[in-house]
Amino acid sequence: MQTAKAAAAKAALDHIEEGSILGVGTGSTVNCLIDAIGESGLRLQGAVASSVGTEKRLKAIGIDLLDLNSTGTLDLYIDGADETNPALELIKGGGAALTREKIIAGASAKFLCIVDKSKQVNVLGAFPLPVEVIPMARSFAARELLKLGCDPEYRDGVITDNGNVILDCYRFNIANPKELEHAVNAIPGVVTVGLFALRGADALLVGHDDGNTELIDAQGG
Ligand code: 5RP
Repeated sequence: MQTAKAAAAKAALDHIEEGSILGVGTGSTVNCLIDAIGESGLRLQGAVASSVGTEKRLKAIGIDLLDLNSTGTLDLYIDGADETNPALELIKGGGAALTREKIIAGASAKFLCIVDKSKQVNVLGAFPLPVEVIPMARSFAARELLKLGCDPEYRDGVITDNGNVILDCYRFNIANPKELEHAVNAIPGVVTVGLFALRGADALLVGHDDGNTELIDAQGG
């Protein structure tokens, strides 16, 4: 799996413009991307990071960190995913960075998602859907999520970079990802849900165990 992640990450280098500002996601596949950028010698004007962990890694390879409030729209955001369906709608947040990831994805002209083959599914939902919740709303939000038809579980011991908690939703029927994204986001106390359907990926780079990669765009081409 590590070979597949590294292959997708390396192939993503071809999509990054020299001297640009890059949005950078979070997770082990993105860590491969940061390593690949470091090894390639590619120069960036700077990067907007989706987590404290990513910030540290970018700093370590000498990339300037920029504030999204001063960059304007980014040309490109690159991030991993926990699951992707054929429409390139995603489940994200396995690494608890979903809110900042969704903000940067929304603020970017293009979202390139990098995954290993195991992340491709026909229907989203085998991976428990993460929901970031303000701490005082934890029990209330869990009861509301239960009403929407899932089994929410508190991710014990995890505090997000925003000071919030995560509820992982098991056994959600995600027949209509956009509808469910709206419904979960409407629960008071929910900061955001790890469904990326209203703003899914524009393109997907899939890495295989033999080191090959394939590029799929959102239109399925
Ligand atoms: C973090 C995420 C990650 O993109 C997702 O969990 C995939 O991680 P990995 O690349 O380690 O498989 O959404 O919040």
